[in-house]
Amino acid sequence: MYVVAGATGRVGSVVAKTLLTNGAGVRVLVRRSSDAEQWRAEGADVRILQLDDRAALADALRGCAGFFTLLPFDLHVANLAEHAERLTCSIAGAVADAAVPHVVMLSSMGADLAEGTGPITGLNRLERALRETGTVLTALRSGHFQEKVADVIEIARESGVYPVFADSADTPVPMVATADLGSVAARALQTPPDTSENLDILGASYSERAVAKLLGESLGRELRVTTVPEEAWSAAFVEAGFRPHVADSLAELYRADAQGLLAPRGDRSVLVDIPMEATLAGMLAGR
Ligand SMILES: NC(=O)c1ccc[n+]([C@@H]2O[C@H](COP(=O)([O-])OP(=O)(O)OC[C@H]3O[C@@H](n4cnc5c(N)ncnc54)[C@H](OP(=O)(O)O)[C@@H]3O)[C@@H](O)[C@H]2O)c1
Repeated sequence: MYVVAGATGRVGSVVAKTLLTNGAGVRVLVRRSSDAEQWRAEGADVRILQLDDRAALADALRGCAGFFTLLPFDLHVANLAEHAERLTCSIAGAVADAAVPHVVMLSSMGADLAEGTGPITGLNRLERALRETGTVLTALRSGHFQEKVADVIEIARESGVYPVFADSADTPVPMVATADLGSVAARALQTPPDTSENLDILGASYSERAVAKLLGESLGRELRVTTVPEEAWSAAFVEAGFRPHVADSLAELYRADAQGLLAPRGDRSVLVDIPMEATLAGMLAGR
């Protein structure tokens, strides 16, 4: 039996569905009873819980062969660091309580760094906390999700502008489809390594200008790429509705990216191949 957190999310849903398709026993963790029925119909066992409920999580994990977890980002909480720390203590505590033999964690490039990476510092902390439990940890470190283009689809559709939070829109960076990450996670759960390892998940590289061109073609309008200078990032995030400390954290993340800090430094690389065109088509079709 494998336990999958974030089963209503992009990566977790693919992990659970792939395992079920492979005939494995799956227990999904959801937060609302309205999300439970669909999973039961698909053959999964379901627990309804919050990841910061250590006792309920440990109970759901007891006896499992492997656990897929993420550290959900919530950019609307009053205190980002406190939120991440509460989840980290609960998740790692429950993994220790239930003596889970193998954990696959959705991490990120840059998670090897303890500071200077905005919200990714929480992933560094969760990786370390999980390793300290004695479990075998497979940390999946990807760069940008291809789906982050969703953040700008409406603005691009309405205004024809494609904003880029970087000095240049022409630097290619690897971008990964969340469906690919879900497949890699399911495979890792079913073929656990003997010791912990950090996997760099590498997809094809795209510049923001290349993504803007693909999005423009899908939307049927040419998009004007506009770079936002670094000194304007925090204010732009506040204007978009984020609290000042969240805006600063996001600006730190973008700065780390611009400085090349979110680079592959894992134990080995896994290449994945869903192209941005397929991800965009799925997103615009509402899949
Ligand atoms: N965006 C990027 O480019 C990027 C890059 C590298 C790594 N990451 C990592 O990827 C993660 C997001 O993965 P994703 O896209 O698959 O997630 P997602 O689609 O945003 O979904 C988040 C999932 O977590 C669940 N969740 C949120 N808070 C929870 C809580 N307190 N207790 C239990 N479940 C909770 C949500 O449940 P509900 O449906 O109930 O809300 C949902 O299933 C980020 O948190 C980050 O750590 C992101």
